[in-house]
Amino acid sequence: MTQGRPGGGAWAPLWERETELAVIHRAVADLCSDRTHRGGLLVFSGEAGIGKTALLAEARRIARDRSAAVWVARGGETVKEVPFKVVRQLLQPALISLTPEETREYLGDWYDIAGPALGITEPGSGRPDPQAVCDGLVDVVTRLARVHWPLVLIVDDAHWADQETLRWLAAFAEKLDDLPVLLVVGHRPGEAGGDSAVHLAAVRSAARPATVLQALTPDAAAGLTRATLGEHADAPFCREVWAVTGGNPYESVELLAKVQDSEIEPVESSAAALRDLNRSARGRGLVDRIQELGTDVAQFVRAAAILGSSFSVELAASLIPMPLAVAERCAERLAAARIVTGGETGLEFVHPLIASEVYRSMPPATRTAFHGRAAWAVMDSGRGAAAASPHLLEVIPDDDPELVTQLRQAATEHLATGAPDAARRCLERALREPPRPGVHARVLYELGCATLLTSPATTVRHLREALSLTGLGPELRVDAVCRLSQALVHNDELGEGLRVIDEEAARLPDGTARLRLQAVHFMWEGIHAGEEDAPGRSRRLAALAGPLTGRDNAERALLILRAFDAMTRGENAEEVVELCDRALVNGRLAPGLGWTDTEWSFELRLMLGSSYAFADRLDRAESLFSEAVKAYESAGWSGGHLALAHAFLGYVHRRRGRLRDAEKSLRESLRLADRVGQGGLPMHWEAASMLIDTLLARGHAEEAKAVADRYGFAPPSASTIYVPDAMSVRGRLLLALGHTEDGLNELEATAKALTARGQYNTVLAPWAYDLARALAHEDPRRAADLVGDARVQAERFGTDTAIGEAVRCAAGLASGTRAVALYAKAVTYLEASPCAYEHAVARVEYGIAAGDVDAVQHGLALARACGADGLAARAERELAGV
Ligand SMILES: Nc1ncnc2c1ncn2[C@@H]1O[C@H](COP(=O)(O)OP(=O)(O)O)[C@@H](O)[C@H]1O
Ligand SMILES: [Mg+2]
Repeated sequence: MTQGRPGGGAWAPLWERETELAVIHRAVADLCSDRTHRGGLLVFSGEAGIGKTALLAEARRIARDRSAAVWVARGGETVKEVPFKVVRQLLQPALISLTPEETREYLGDWYDIAGPALGITEPGSGRPDPQAVCDGLVDVVTRLARVHWPLVLIVDDAHWADQETLRWLAAFAEKLDDLPVLLVVGHRPGEAGGDSAVHLAAVRSAARPATVLQALTPDAAAGLTRATLGEHADAPFCREVWAVTGGNPYESVELLAKVQDSEIEPVESSAAALRDLNRSARGRGLVDRIQELGTDVAQFVRAAAILGSSFSVELAASLIPMPLAVAERCAERLAAARIVTGGETGLEFVHPLIASEVYRSMPPATRTAFHGRAAWAVMDSGRGAAAASPHLLEVIPDDDPELVTQLRQAATEHLATGAPDAARRCLERALREPPRPGVHARVLYELGCATLLTSPATTVRHLREALSLTGLGPELRVDAVCRLSQALVHNDELGEGLRVIDEEAARLPDGTARLRLQAVHFMWEGIHAGEEDAPGRSRRLAALAGPLTGRDNAERALLILRAFDAMTRGENAEEVVELCDRALVNGRLAPGLGWTDTEWSFELRLMLGSSYAFADRLDRAESLFSEAVKAYESAGWSGGHLALAHAFLGYVHRRRGRLRDAEKSLRESLRLADRVGQGGLPMHWEAASMLIDTLLARGHAEEAKAVADRYGFAPPSASTIYVPDAMSVRGRLLLALGHTEDGLNELEATAKALTARGQYNTVLAPWAYDLARALAHEDPRRAADLVGDARVQAERFGTDTAIGEAVRCAAGLASGTRAVALYAKAVTYLEASPCAYEHAVARVEYGIAAGDVDAVQHGLALARACGADGLAARAERELAGV
């Protein structure tokens, strides 16, 4: 029983917390036992005043007694709008002790991404993805934790931590199984809202254990009463203390302190006075008690409450304003009245409840006036608009252009540290000021840019409004139209997306801006395969792009679109490559068209790489997609962008016959895509389609099926174009699994859809070969026709891969010496192609047809090198049979 411990010193004994303290003792002991011990997470929750902070202080003491490093941080009601505030505070002891070189070393690749969030590097001009910043923070803390073992992290009032910190905390909590760190969290239930509540719930559910602190029992209240007032406190009086406070420790301690001050005798006859005394602990009673301390004190305490539960006398004084000496006297009186106390950094309220109460009691006009001054004071202190943003947000709208400027500045800083939600809140608030007419459209535009990736519907609303106003200027206007159309497309409104583009293009004279809009138009039509008149569109695109030399990015974009269209249609591959080359500058992506440039939708670059890939220029495709992975990793775009970059790089491996690497990249892609959303997004289908194709090439049909099931692999046939053609892949999968009839139906449907659109690329969409093989016995004529037609298309496209595959399929339908001759020809083509897996298949099949053991051996070696297990097994069986 803690009751038995001596009081006094820096801490008072805690009543009825034996179980909780035992849990803490055990967790700390485990942590300190050895470095390989897995970490722990203890979460304590309960209403205000129940004793969370007191318990966390005990945890800190227990950890220090065992020589563990203890880092602490605390959320605050008035500062929860400052992104990364709490995590910065938590890591401060570790970070300030580092030299700049050590900082670089610890942060490693995360330096540019997590550095600004931690406030140790200046934010750059980029906009790191919040997910990447979160990953970076997890990684940085993981590194620090390994060095500072044994380490205890304590986060109090987590319900008031900023959303960005909570996101990190939730991600970090998942890592604790592999890390020798003890994390202890305290929070009030039901306080956090929105995303913060979701993150906090995730932290709770990872806790071992999550404990709800209970109010004191009448016995403990009596013990506390007697420990404070003396053993002579009688039972009815003690009972009344408990009844009045409901066993809430904060109220009990405060009430007993007042009894002490007032020299009331702790006996039954005084019990009636307790209820009155308790009133001044909370609510109106508390406010009145402060009022009684004088006007200066009341003003000072209000300024302090604006700053949060901990504050500096100077800063509070500067808000009123009031001479420092007067402010110091106020602080002394408040300390004597148990309202404030000396904290680690300046002063703090004895309990955050008091700060909340004072804050709420202020007349709104006073409150916002203080917030306005606090914003200035924070910015004056050099901490920037982002740090001032919680105050800026609270100022009442008053047509103040200066405030709009500061809010926009804060939004820019938030975006640069990876906190787009905070940026959005600042810009939304700026709109309510409202901004001056010339600036209004810009704020709307900035808001549209800030919400682009997260909320297409909101983006549409803001950008439409921005475009309806004057003030954007010609360049921003075109940009806004392009972004609007993109948001519409993401919102599944392709038709409307095209309409806004065309309407704006019609208003503009010939020139770069107009060309840009036309390029965007063709891009949406090109990606979304469902359009009616595909051949007509191709003709128009060819006519527009044909004469272009690639002088500017609008021209380059059109060249890429034309190249991709020509590739999907199976036009001459050399021309496809020539168009792609024309879109590059010295063999590289042009400035402004790089992977992280946002002016042009990034699908455009995927189209470029794919055009190269299917035109047998896998070398070019590989260097483009490797560059994409690097660019997104170092820019911290670890969401959908990185997922797709891995997917396309993986598919280049697949085409090159590096099937194991392909599988690895594609699985990584899906892992990243799963973090963006759980299945069902086009990016899932894209990566799943590539992975299924790869697994089938490896000969792992059951695994391919598992992927298909996991992602409900049934992409809508008529919308987005997939690389490779997803319907062909699905047909192949069904056949591989023995669902012949479904497979045939799928392939027939593919044939119909692609033919209608004029898409005849037999490498991108190899449906004809699978269909021909499946029909070979039942309907040999049809099979021969299919292969004959495909061969014509392959010759027209003209790559070694395309022709080699067509010839190989024809060989499979033939017999005797004709088959052998065709296989030999297929081998010649495919050996010259960059596609090692297709080459291996042709070798093995040639060897089998020709009864040539050496050729089968050769094919087997190739198959093994590719990681084509199914093919290797087939070759081995053949060799064993011989
Ligand atoms: N179990 C306990 N026994 C005695 N006093 C306690 C106990 N828990 C908390 N207190 C006291 O009650 C007051 C409020 O507790 P605190 O930890 O700040 O509550 P919370 O953080 O839950 O709001 C503090 O003065 C603290 O010392
Ligand atoms: Mg507390």
